[in-house]
Amino acid sequence: MIELRGVSFGFADGRGILRPVDLAIEDGSWVAVAGGNGSGKTTLCRLVAGLLRPSSGTVSVDGADPSSAGASPAVGIAFQNPDSQFVTSRVEREILFGMENLALPPREMRTRLDEAAAAFGLGGLLRRNPHTLSGGEKQRLVLAGLHAMAPRHLVLDEPFSFLDDAGRASFLGALRGSIRGGSKTVVWSTLDEEEIALAGRVVFLHGGEVLYDGPPRALCAAVPADILDAAIVRAARETAVLPERSRAVPSAPSPDPPRPGDARAAPEGGRAASPASVEIRGAVFTRGGGFSLPVADLAIRRGETIGIAGPSGSGKTTLLLGCAGLLPPREGSATVLGNRIISRRDAPVGRFAFLFQSPEEGFFAPTVRGEVALARRAFHGDRGVEESVVAALEAAGLSPAAFLDRNPFGLSQGEKRLVAIASVLVIGAELLLLDEPTIFLDGAARARLLDLLVRLRAAGTTIVVASHDTRFLEPLCDRVVALSV
Ligand SMILES: Nc1ncnc2c1ncn2[C@@H]1O[C@H](COP(=O)(O)OP(=O)(O)OP(=O)(O)O)[C@@H](O)[C@H]1O
Ligand SMILES: [Mg+2]
Repeated sequence: MIELRGVSFGFADGRGILRPVDLAIEDGSWVAVAGGNGSGKTTLCRLVAGLLRPSSGTVSVDGADPSSAGASPAVGIAFQNPDSQFVTSRVEREILFGMENLALPPREMRTRLDEAAAAFGLGGLLRRNPHTLSGGEKQRLVLAGLHAMAPRHLVLDEPFSFLDDAGRASFLGALRGSIRGGSKTVVWSTLDEEEIALAGRVVFLHGGEVLYDGPPRALCAAVPADILDAAIVRAARETAVLPERSRAVPSAPSPDPPRPGDARAAPEGGRAASPASVEIRGAVFTRGGGFSLPVADLAIRRGETIGIAGPSGSGKTTLLLGCAGLLPPREGSATVLGNRIISRRDAPVGRFAFLFQSPEEGFFAPTVRGEVALARRAFHGDRGVEESVVAALEAAGLSPAAFLDRNPFGLSQGEKRLVAIASVLVIGAELLLLDEPTIFLDGAARARLLDLLVRLRAAGTTIVVASHDTRFLEPLCDRVVALSV
């Protein structure tokens, strides 16, 4: 039994994060914790796991305080950002690590390791360094580690955010397998409508307050529509994914002619002879771990918006790096904004901007203002820094008044992602490359990002977006390149 009595939480800077919450969670129940970015989901998860102590009130798990030293680890938690969870340099060691803390007999550990690796599809990755895995693989590793430890209660903070639809479906089964027996409790934070529907009960947070606590089917009637729509990510109308193709990028994709009214159309109409931003011919891109991606022929015209879709591990990030000139092809040719890419030094610095998949790991500055200014100064010097920082935060959907002086490390994951997006926008680049930009963003933040990209596209920016979220790509892109494994 997990019990929160009058639990509130605030950080040292005096802002209250969670208003007094009372929750009793019976053994064996599956509870979704929903709410928009910054609503307090992670804070609630960490309180239950004993990683934070409440400012007032009490948390108890099976009658004990989960934060007290020496308490048996009854709760296993999966962090929202899997990178911050790893403690070893090998996938196999990572799964064993948790079990070693439980002092299990070596034989038992071996059996559980094999079983967890099989359940979460990690068999071929056991010798890899966890930090070199794809986002989806990292999340599966965290779940496999928890599966092997078999804690009494599971707290999962957005455990599927990096997984595509196929991965979600298949690993949900594995997760269900790990709670077999019926007495294990699952507390699952999520933004996703479909994941909420899996739970028997949903606790909906808004501004640190519980707005609703009850069965998912009554959520829509209980929470005002504007608040709900801003918080959650709606399910796909049809679940059809993009057609599967061979791994090689299709030969000679024919660019669409500009549409009438398209800001990028040539003034005389007809097909604009706009020079290509990116041209890749007969190329092979290779990464560590023996991965290689052949790209027969890909030309991206200036002002075009291209999506890169495909399942986890299909090479979306690899292709994106190739399009930026950050990964020289091992054979064939790549030209980015007129630069022939022979080595990384040939990338057209200052003319492209790249949003990495886990950008928050690259934060340097002690304030959001400093962090975004750093990106601006790197390419444009000191002139007009303050105004451009403010404009970039506004465009990303973060109120400058509320965020300029915050520490970027002390933000929710969704807020961090928006700071990273602002740091990319502030560069004002002609070629924009975004790797999974929607991860961690709530419904409102996604809609704003879509809007922003549509405006940048109309202003002539070339945009390449890699995403497992086809719902986001469809309304945005001129073409989608579908990769497959
Ligand atoms: N270390 C910290 N110091 C100060 N404030 C923090 C810290 N961590 C989180 N916050 C603030 O607490 C509030 C709740 O954050 P929390 O991470 O619980 O939100 P969340 O619902 O998990 O959001 P997301 O969907 O973005 O993950 C946010 O306003 C956030 O800025
Ligand atoms: Mg969170």
